[in-house]
Amino acid sequence: MEVFRICGGTSLNGVVNISGSKNAALPQFAATLLSSEQSVLRNVPNLSDVRFMAEILSELGAEVRQLDNSTWEINPANITHNAPYELVRKMRASICLLGPLVGRLKKAEIPMPGGCVIGQRPIDLHIKALSRLGANIELKKGIVKVDGKNLRGNKLFLGGRHGSTVTGTSNAIMAAVLAPGLTTIDSSACEPEISDLCSMLISMGAKISGVGSHRLEIEGVNKLSGCNHRVIPDRIEAATYAIAAAITQGEVTLNGAKSEHLGSFINVMQESGVSMDLEHTDQIKVYLKNGELNSLEIITLPYPGFPTDLQAQSCALACKANGLSILTERVYPSRFMHVPELMRMGADIAMEGASSVVKGKSKLTGAPVMASDLRASAALILAGLAAEGESWVQRIYHLDRGYDAFEKKLQALGAIVERVPENKLPKSFSTN
Ligand code: EPZ
Repeated sequence: MEVFRICGGTSLNGVVNISGSKNAALPQFAATLLSSEQSVLRNVPNLSDVRFMAEILSELGAEVRQLDNSTWEINPANITHNAPYELVRKMRASICLLGPLVGRLKKAEIPMPGGCVIGQRPIDLHIKALSRLGANIELKKGIVKVDGKNLRGNKLFLGGRHGSTVTGTSNAIMAAVLAPGLTTIDSSACEPEISDLCSMLISMGAKISGVGSHRLEIEGVNKLSGCNHRVIPDRIEAATYAIAAAITQGEVTLNGAKSEHLGSFINVMQESGVSMDLEHTDQIKVYLKNGELNSLEIITLPYPGFPTDLQAQSCALACKANGLSILTERVYPSRFMHVPELMRMGADIAMEGASSVVKGKSKLTGAPVMASDLRASAALILAGLAAEGESWVQRIYHLDRGYDAFEKKLQALGAIVERVPENKLPKSFSTN
C-alpha cells in the first residue's frame, strides 16, 4: 500500500485542470449497455473506480478499450445479465448496472452492494422503482434477481428519508428509456451528473423531458444507438481544490470547472470570505478576500443543496476559520470518520448528533493519520497542507478511487506532497 507524505505550510498558487466527473462517468459506462452499438466516452477521469467499472463491463461480455488517458470505447454487442460478485461487491456504484441490464436484456442478477464507512447504503428506492415499472425482483443469497420481461412505463416516486437517490434515479431512467409507454419520475435527483446522463441517453435516441428538474418524463423507445459523449467536469474535485486554495491562503484558478454546478458551495465559500471569481464560463479564480476566513455554517442536502461529498473537506477548512463552525449531515448522518483523524492533527471538534461543531483557528500540526473513505482522504490531505510540519496519510487507495492525479496536481500548485511506499512510514508511526 502507499502513503502520502505532506510538508505543510506552503500556499498553493496557480492553475489546476479539472478532470471529468467520477459520479457522471460511472453510470455512463453502465448506460452504454443500453445499446448493442459501440459508444465512446471522452473526458473520463483516470481513476481506479473507472478501471473497475470497465473490468465489470468486460466480465459482462462487452469489448472495452481505453483509447487514451481520458477516452474509452465500449462495444456491448454481446453481454450477459449477471454481474460478477467478486468485482461488484467492491464498488457500490456498480449498482448502476441494474437499470441498463433490465432495460436492454429484461433481466439482471447483481450482488447487493455492501455498506461502507459513510453509512448505510440501502437500495430500497432502486427496487421500488423497478417494481413500479413491472419488474419482478427477488433477493436471494445476497443477489438481486430481476425479471423485467413485463417492463412497462409507470408513475414513479423516488423520495426517501434523506431526499432522492442519485444512483436510484439513474437506474430508474435507464430501465425506463426502453420500457414501452410513458414513465414519470417524481422527486427525481437532479444532480448535474443525472442531467449529464440524460444528455448522453438523449444523444442515443432516448426521449426524456424535464432534464435538470425534480420531475422527469420518459417515453420508452424500441432501441438506442451508440454515442460519442463528453463527460462533464467533476464539481467535487473542483471544490476540493477551491478549499485547498482557501486553507493554504493561496490563489488557485480552477480550469474547466462549471460554476453552474457549484451554486450552494460558491455561496457558502463567499459568505465565509473566500472569493470565487468567474474568470470565463469554465474558469473560476479562488482566493481569500482579505486573508481572513469566517466561520462556516453548512447543512448537506441533495442538489442543489450543499453536497455531502464536500462536508469532510469543509470540516478541514473550518479548523482554520474564525469562531465556531457547524456542519450538519442530512444525507449521510454518520459521515464523520474524518473527525477523529483531524483531531489527531490538533483540530478542536465536538460532535452533536449529525453535526460537527468546529472551533476555529486551531493550530494544526502534522501527524500520521488514516484515511477511511474517498472524501475523508481528501480532507486529511487538505489539513496536512495547512498543518505545521509533516503529515503521513495512510490508505490512500481510497483517494485514488475518486481523485485523478491528486498529488501531481497539488505539486503543480506548489504543495510539498509525495506518494511513497508504506515502508517509508517512520517506524514510530508504523501501525503493523
Ligand atoms: C451518490 O451515491 C454518489 N455516488 C455519492 O458520492 C454521493 O455521496 C451520493 O450520491 C449523495 O449525493 C455516485 O454517484 C457513484 P444516494 P448514491 O442513493 O447514489 C438514501 C463520492 O464520494 N437511500 O443518493 O449511492 C441513502 O442512505 C460518493 O463520490 C435510501 O434510503 O447515494 C442516503 O442517505 C459517496 N434508499 C441518501 O438516500 C435507497 O434506495 C442518498 O443516497 C437509496 C438511497
